[in-house]
Amino acid sequence: MNFEFTEEQLMVRQAARDFAQNELKPGVIDRDEHQKFPAEQIKKLGELGFMGLMTSEQYGGSGMDAISYVLVMEELSKVDASASVVISVNNSLVCYGLERFGTEEQKQKYLIPLARGEKIGAFCLSEPEAGSDATSQQTTAIDMGDYYLLNGTKNWITNGNSASTYLVIAQTDASKKHHGINALIVERGMEGFTIGPKENKMGIRGSDTHSLMFTDVKVPKENRIGEEGFGFKFAMTTLEGGRIGIASQALGIASGAYELAVQYAKERKAFGKTIANLQSIQFKLADMATEIEAARLMCLKAAWLKDHHLPYGQASAMAKLFASKVAMDTTIEAVQIHGGYGFVKEFHVERLMRDAKITQIYEGTSEIQKIVISREVLK
Ligand code: CAA
Repeated sequence: MNFEFTEEQLMVRQAARDFAQNELKPGVIDRDEHQKFPAEQIKKLGELGFMGLMTSEQYGGSGMDAISYVLVMEELSKVDASASVVISVNNSLVCYGLERFGTEEQKQKYLIPLARGEKIGAFCLSEPEAGSDATSQQTTAIDMGDYYLLNGTKNWITNGNSASTYLVIAQTDASKKHHGINALIVERGMEGFTIGPKENKMGIRGSDTHSLMFTDVKVPKENRIGEEGFGFKFAMTTLEGGRIGIASQALGIASGAYELAVQYAKERKAFGKTIANLQSIQFKLADMATEIEAARLMCLKAAWLKDHHLPYGQASAMAKLFASKVAMDTTIEAVQIHGGYGFVKEFHVERLMRDAKITQIYEGTSEIQKIVISREVLK
């Protein structure tokens, strides 16, 4: 077992750290306050190769491993989880899915601009009546010969209004249940495709979350990903990797809050000394450091399994379950350590606390992760 990072992994981590400090931090409070999508920053992240970090160079990506992805996600999420979720969805749910299951034509047409960061992708599974229960898709894609006729509504779609390419999961043959579901590539601007208003969220307020409406949208047959009826497996497979991204986002939110708490504890004076000298604070910091280290190792283990082409569904669910709890617990404690300052926006920790909560909800709630884990345990 080797816990050392390679030169390349260390370099990419440093690049992400520098970017977070120099490009994300300056406007992060304003973007959160006014729900501004970090468009300029995402463009630059694309130029750095982070939008297609794990996509092979042949298809416009950086050809890096999943370990590098964890390192990048942690560094970006320490500062701006609204920006990092764009990186996560584009990389794991969209580019990975297209590279692994798409046709050569789909890769040339859709994957290359997504991996280069020239376009942004969205993954559309959740519906008003189908969140955790993902097999109960109400959106229909009726087979019309040359095309599918797409009708329905998708909810809480990350990159909803900033994307150009949408991977939409829809039911073609309800009698076949999840074997009758397809994954279709839908382009922004297709007739009958409309984007609903932006959600006014508690956290990751800079990210662009919308509902999407499809009314008699004609999606060409060549835009189906994989064989007829492969859509549900497509979604489940891509989500396994997506959960490494969100686990690493949770890790970053936790470590960002922890670093701020350590710095504050060393500066803030109370009872004639810095609060870092108080055992009550030392114990909190020790717990935070321990839990973050465990979460980090779980994220890296899941990524390592993926890089070695070994099963990683259980490991990614465990990493997400644990890291998202650590994110919640750590950010609450970081606010507590900051006292009154923690409750105001300038000190960043209240935002990280609000951002942490979504990591226990999207890409499968904590309860869904427990279902995935317990099924493996009981197999
Ligand atoms: N890989 C491949 N196939 C899988 C799989 C996996 N990880 N998990 C399940 N499947 C297959 C099963 O083998 C089965 O196929 P067969 O019948 O051919 O064997 C089929 O899928 C159905 O599986 P289940 O019977 O296990 O399905 P289920 O209804 O009991 O539910 C679930 C499984 C794990 C609960 C699933 O519904 C699930 O993961 N739900 C949560 C969905 C989710 O994460 N949504 C997040 C939306 S995306 C998002 O949040 C993005 C964002 O904005 C950031």
